[in-house]
Order: sequence, then C-alpha cells, then structure tokens
Amino acid sequence: MSRDDRGRFAAFSSAPGKEPERQRYFTALCRRWVTEREEKLGRPLTCHISTFGCQMNAHDSEKLLGILLEAGFQETDSENADFVLYNTCTVRENANQRVYGRLGYLHSLKKKNPDMLIAICGCMMQEPDEAERVRREFRFVDLVFGTHNVYQLAELLARRIAEKAPVFEIYEEAGAIVEDLPAERKYPFKSGVNIMYGCNNFCSYCIVPYVRGRERSREPEEILREIRRLANDGVVEIMLLGQNVNSYGKNLAEPVTFAELLRRAEQIEGIRRIRFMTSHPKDLSDELIEVMAASEKICRHLHLPLQSGSSRILEKMNRRYTKEQYLALTEKLYRAIPDLSLTTDLIVGFPGETEEDFEETLDVVRRVRYDSAFTFLYSPRTGTPAASMPDQVPEAVAKERFDRLLKEVQAISSQVCGRDVHTVKEVLAEEPDSHRDGWLTGRLSNNLTVHFPGKREWIGRLLPVYLEESKGFYYNGYISETGGSER
Ligand code: SAH
Ligand code: SF4
Ligand code: F3S
Repeated sequence: MSRDDRGRFAAFSSAPGKEPERQRYFTALCRRWVTEREEKLGRPLTCHISTFGCQMNAHDSEKLLGILLEAGFQETDSENADFVLYNTCTVRENANQRVYGRLGYLHSLKKKNPDMLIAICGCMMQEPDEAERVRREFRFVDLVFGTHNVYQLAELLARRIAEKAPVFEIYEEAGAIVEDLPAERKYPFKSGVNIMYGCNNFCSYCIVPYVRGRERSREPEEILREIRRLANDGVVEIMLLGQNVNSYGKNLAEPVTFAELLRRAEQIEGIRRIRFMTSHPKDLSDELIEVMAASEKICRHLHLPLQSGSSRILEKMNRRYTKEQYLALTEKLYRAIPDLSLTTDLIVGFPGETEEDFEETLDVVRRVRYDSAFTFLYSPRTGTPAASMPDQVPEAVAKERFDRLLKEVQAISSQVCGRDVHTVKEVLAEEPDSHRDGWLTGRLSNNLTVHFPGKREWIGRLLPVYLEESKGFYYNGYISETGGSER
C-alpha cells in the first residue's frame, strides 16, 4: 500500500457521520484524486451517465451527475469516458437485456483504457439476483449501488479508489431522506422535483415497490424550499415526481394532501408551469380536480395510467378501481377541465386476459380518446404475484393484441392531437429543432410538441405561437406577434 493510499484510508476514519456533510467531505476527497489524475494524464477526466427507465431515474441521474461534476469530472456524451455509470430500470425484462448487452461494449472500451471506472446503479441492482450476476459475470464492473444510496456516490467512489477492488453497496431498505445534495439539471429552465419515493400499491405485475421500497413523502417545507431555490435559479417549469403523487403526504407526521402541496407550490413566484407524474386513478381526489381547474400554472395534462379496461383484470392487477370508476373519473375531469389532455399506460397480455378483456381495453381507449398512450407487453417479473398466476397469455396472442391496440391508439391520437390547430398557444421553447436550422422545439401546456422558427436565445422562454399545421403528434407554427417573442 502506498503512502497516498494509507492517507486515503485514514481519511475514511475522520469522515463526518452526518449527512449531507459526510458526502461533501467525500466529494472533496474525490476531487483531490481527480486533480491528481488529471495532472498525471495531462487531460481532464470525463464522466458519462446512461439512464434507463422513468422520470424518477432521470432525476436521480441529475443528482448523480451533480456529484460527479463537483468531484471534478467533465461530462461527455460518449461512453468512452473515464467514469461510466449505468442507471438501470427493471420494470420490464427487455430493460435488463439492454443493460447486459451494452455492458459487453463497455468492456471493450475498458480493455483500451484499463483505468476506466464502470458503475451500475438503479432499480435493477436492487434485485439480489441481478447484482449477483454482475458480480459473477461482469468482473470488470467497479462499483454497484442501489436506489436507496444514490446520495452516497462520492463515498463509494472514494472507497473504490482507496480499496482498489470492486465495491458493492446495496441497501435493502431506504434510510432517512437526504436533502441538499448537488444536482446538475439537464435543462436550465425546467426541473424535476421528487415529492415522494417508493410505492405501497403492489400492483400484482409490478416490481417497483420491491426495488424502490415503501412510500415516503418529503416534508412539504423541504419541497417548497427546493422549488423556491429553483425559481431563483431561473427555472420556470417544475415536474413533481412520485410513483403515486395522489397519495402524497398521507404518512407525514402532519399530513398534507397533494392538492394542498400544489396550491402552495403555485404561489411561488417565477414558476410558470407545474406538471406532475404519476397519478394513480384510485387516489385522484375532487380537491385535486378543483385545484387543477382553478390553476393558471398547473399544466393541462394528466397522465392517468389505466393498465387494462377490464374490471376483472384490474382486480387481478390489484389496481383497486373498475372500468366504470375510471370512466366516471375521466368524465369528471373533462367536465371540470375541458381543455385537459389525458395520456395513459396500457398493459397487454396480463395473465388470464381473454379477447373479451382486451376488447374492454379498446373500448376505454375509444371512449377516453387519449392524446397518447404508452403500450406495453406484459413482462413477468420474478417475485411479483402475477408472475406465478395461471393462464399466462401466449406471446403470439399478446403481440397480435398489442399491434391492434397500438393502431387504435395512434389513430385516435392523430385525430385529437390537432384540436388546437389555427389557435395561438403559449409554448415553452425547449431546444433547437433537431431537423431544421433556425427552428426551435417547444412544448404546450398539454405536453404536445411544437416546432417553430426561432432564435437560440429564446430557449427557456414562454412564447405565443400560432399553431399553423397539425402533424398528428406535433405542430408546426410561428411566433404570433413580434412583441411576444421578446418576452
Ligand atoms: N407508478 C406508475 C407506473 C410506474 S411503471 C403508475 O402506477 O402508474 C410504468 C408503467 O410500466 C406502468 O404504468 C405499467 O403500464 C408498466 N409496467 C409495469 N410493470 C410492468 C410489467 N411487469 N409488464 C409490462 N408493463 C409493466
Ligand atoms: Fe407499480 Fe402500481 Fe406502484 Fe405504479 S402504482 S409503481 S404500477 S405498484
Ligand atoms: Fe424502471 Fe425503476 Fe422507474 S424499475 S420504471 S426506473 S422506478
């Protein structure tokens, strides 16, 4: 062991016990190591994060990147980097396959750059069998951690550096929520905000409650403090994140409803748009509908996963609503908020699903007329009740239903998405249009995209855009008044 390494071990025993001070301490330690390496190599050290899965993971990745940048790494788009992190998803089997497929490619990069560090975290690593597979079959992986210790990245990296051996640190259960860690936002003008972690619903097909743990809500003051900070930083749009935001706050020492949290968030100056995800139909309250209807800032979009239109299948899925209750809820929503855009998630081929059950799903799709829907083939997840249910649907049958459903969803979507054509709507300019020079891509309150000619300096602004042409899933338009463009 070199003197340097001994020094690093000593550094571990003098680390503060309290968070987030402890992580700040290790971030500084990593930064010293990064600087040393950079001086030796005569170039910056680079990092890259590949994110799989949902908004929750995307937001975790912003926190992970924040830590890496504070530790002195420079971000790169390429996986040919000095530190590569895969933030994984395990909600369906194909998500896992993709990760293992790409690990092979990372290995080939590491052979050329033996000092490269490879890390894997996220939901897949919360499954003991998957973490074990990485340990056994992918020995070139340096660092593995789970969803409950994302905040520890700096400490784990410091350990990997000091111990010079792979570090596996996965907690089975969540500890206290660690606040005030750095985060690097992908967009300067919009940001995700976690309001809760985990899920208690145990839908019978779903692995999320097992890999993300029990439902925990953040204190409203912490959330509002974060939003105020974001607003001061120039953020105009926030997306409140949770697996089931409608049950936010129920388990706090002083319970607060989600609707009340929205009411308070809405008062924060500088925030112009508020989105949230995901709403479980069983917990969507009248109070929430009222708050949404009266709000200037809450976007006219609600993602309301249906999963199946058959009450019989919904019961087996443990969704705790019926087809009729779901339809009644959407009617109530449309009545209170006529310009609301609804989107959904649908699963095809759940165990025991018959042609009649599937027809019920098509029926709801035709009645609700979603702007868009994510359609998924049922994927059995080890350890979930549905995986061992009888009557698993043959793949060919499920695939055929999936194709029919997709066709229906797309046909309806292209009809309803054009509803605002030839009107002027407020658009948040988000990025340069990837297909046309001198054009920008932005988003309407109802989440549809709009392409329009514009200058890069306008990115991050809310602009009045005339929606000239509907292309089914998006619009082409132009700024409607000269005055508006300079806002
Ligand atoms: N908390 C959110 C969903 C999170 S997972 C909610 O309850 O709405 C995102 C979507 O993945 C789910 O809505 C569901 O449609 C899909 N999904 C989850 N588990 C699945 C499985 N085993 N097979 C196929 N799709 C699944
Ligand atoms: Fe999974 Fe259901 Fe929880 Fe959504 S609500 S994360 S589908 S268990
Ligand atoms: Fe996937 Fe985990 Fe999200 S399993 S869908 S990344 S919560």
